Amino acid sequence: MRLDLATWPEIDAYLTRSTGILIPVGSTEQHGPSGLIGTDSLCAEAIAQAAATRLAALVGPVLPVGVAEHHLAFAGSLSFSRETFLAAMNDYAQSLRRHGFRAFYVVNGHGGNIAALREWAKTSEAGEGGVRARAVNWWMGRRTAALRRELYGDREGVHATPSEIAVTQHLFPAAIKSMPTEGVAPAAQSYRSPEEYRARYPDGRVGSDPALATPAHGAAIFASAVEDVVEDYAQFLAG
Ligand code: NI
Repeated sequence: MRLDLATWPEIDAYLTRSTGILIPVGSTEQHGPSGLIGTDSLCAEAIAQAAATRLAALVGPVLPVGVAEHHLAFAGSLSFSRETFLAAMNDYAQSLRRHGFRAFYVVNGHGGNIAALREWAKTSEAGEGGVRARAVNWWMGRRTAALRRELYGDREGVHATPSEIAVTQHLFPAAIKSMPTEGVAPAAQSYRSPEEYRARYPDGRVGSDPALATPAHGAAIFASAVEDVVEDYAQFLAG
């Protein structure tokens, strides 16, 4: 059940049988010349919503902006500071806690968020009310990690990956961009500023070859990610 499509009496009723909720967290940032700027939010939101349907669980609205300062030299990218991001997560969860929610399961779509999300989860669990919190990257589940390896091997890379681009192709076929042959992007190296990031990775991709993505791959990766989240959420709730 989607929180944004529910009424308050429906949430009241849900709370009598569960205090758990899935929270999709994404980012709005460049994903190379062929990837959608919303990739991380769109993937996290769709995977969390599909998993929630399977679990008869509640899913909150996506937090669509994350910690993505290093992408800001590319047009269209948005970023929260780490402090703003943590404050937003804390306020989101505090609102839910007030209503009686106690188990927060974040489906994250952006690698750059995960350190802050783990800190948020730790702080939440250390606070009042017996809150439990977990944050997972949707592409790191057991089945999904294996499938990504099988499909793309070392051409998966770490940013604007064929797997995330494939998932958006599956979800939003009308938004598929033409795919010039791009080859493999430069591998990960260090950078100290958005400008240096852009100099290292001129088209925005890191180590990836998103030209390999297909909507059919996306359908399989999506199904696998949903399966991983369903399994892990059930374990999380069982404690
Ligand atoms: Ni991404």
